[in-house]
Amino acid sequence: MTDENSDIVISLRNLSKKFGDFYAVSNFSLDVKKGEIIGLLGPNGAGKTTTMKMISRLLIPSTGEVWIRDNGNLELLTNRSKDYLLDHLGFLIENPAFYDHMTPKQILSYFARLKGYPKKKIRSRVEEVINMIGLEGWIDKKVGTFSKGMRQKLGIVSALVHDPEILVLDEPQTGLDPKARREIRKLLLKLKHQGKTIFLSSHLLYEVSEVADRIAIINLGNLVAFDTIRNLESESQDSLLRIQLLTLPVDIPIMRDKLESIIKPHVGMKNVSEIVSYNSDSQVFEARFNGNLVNQGRILKELALNKIDVVDFSVPRTSSLEELYIKLLAGIVTERNPVAEVQAKESAGIME
Ligand SMILES: Nc1ncnc2c1ncn2[C@@H]1O[C@H](COP(=O)(O)OP(=O)(O)OP(=O)(O)O)[C@@H](O)[C@H]1O
Ligand SMILES: [Mg+2]
Repeated sequence: MTDENSDIVISLRNLSKKFGDFYAVSNFSLDVKKGEIIGLLGPNGAGKTTTMKMISRLLIPSTGEVWIRDNGNLELLTNRSKDYLLDHLGFLIENPAFYDHMTPKQILSYFARLKGYPKKKIRSRVEEVINMIGLEGWIDKKVGTFSKGMRQKLGIVSALVHDPEILVLDEPQTGLDPKARREIRKLLLKLKHQGKTIFLSSHLLYEVSEVADRIAIINLGNLVAFDTIRNLESESQDSLLRIQLLTLPVDIPIMRDKLESIIKPHVGMKNVSEIVSYNSDSQVFEARFNGNLVNQGRILKELALNKIDVVDFSVPRTSSLEELYIKLLAGIVTERNPVAEVQAKESAGIME
């Protein structure tokens, strides 16, 4: 098939999966461009793993199609195309299970062979990917002796040992310590810069906000939002601006009032009564604004004109993603299905 959108490498079209009478995923459509990292978010049971299994052909869609780019053309994934197309894809879905008596070298060589990696290069490739995750000293040790995090890391590299163009990673950072999470974050960005396309699901909003180009939020099997964090924020017209002053004012309420009067005309939000609040935990002032970059610039300029010494002026991506996530889950479900609202809020961990 020829196509105009030659930068699209995965195209999900009206993908649905029905288990009995229950739709785990319903009419899910999105296109992913080459070199993008897509962060798939959603509460437990939302349909993330089911979607990823359909992309990886571990599950056959009830209806809808998965298209994957191969040699310049988008090809429909069917049972017949399975092996040949799936070589372009690496996936880690749920907990990786390995035979305890095998070593990383044996496991990774096996996966590389299975996925058609050139035989002569397997040895050096296995060493290369083991180095990527800092398990050099463990290459010949039995995985039965590995910790949970080490197995998880091994699972990640077993998905990419054959150097696939597309990676589908279901919660790759779950169970990893902060240092290992950071290593994986770096690895994902490195792969992205090599032109790999990555579909990543996670409950760790920070990890996702640091690497993902676009966010897909799924709830009750439906795609609720799909865009950059920045665009989603400006659509929701409500962002948080962190303002830390050089010295903590003696009278916080007076400073708050002052900031409120300076900032309020420039936030682009008419119907909000209180714009500035003080976060006593982090000792910073927080202003709500409409997420527009021009407004953000105006606010900074006003603060400088008023000789207020600001040492940090930023939109915290994680907390804004968390806000967005919660809003999108609650809001859109209300529109679509009022009966499901309570259930959705509960599953998203939102307390009334
Ligand atoms: N094989 C199956 N048979 C029946 N129902 C299933 C099956 N697999 C998944 N489901 C159901 O489909 C829904 C979506 O499950 P899925 O595993 O895709 O969620 P998830 O978003 O990955 O959740 P989590 O964040 O907990 O991993 C859930 O309600 C689940 O119970
Ligand atoms: Mg899952």
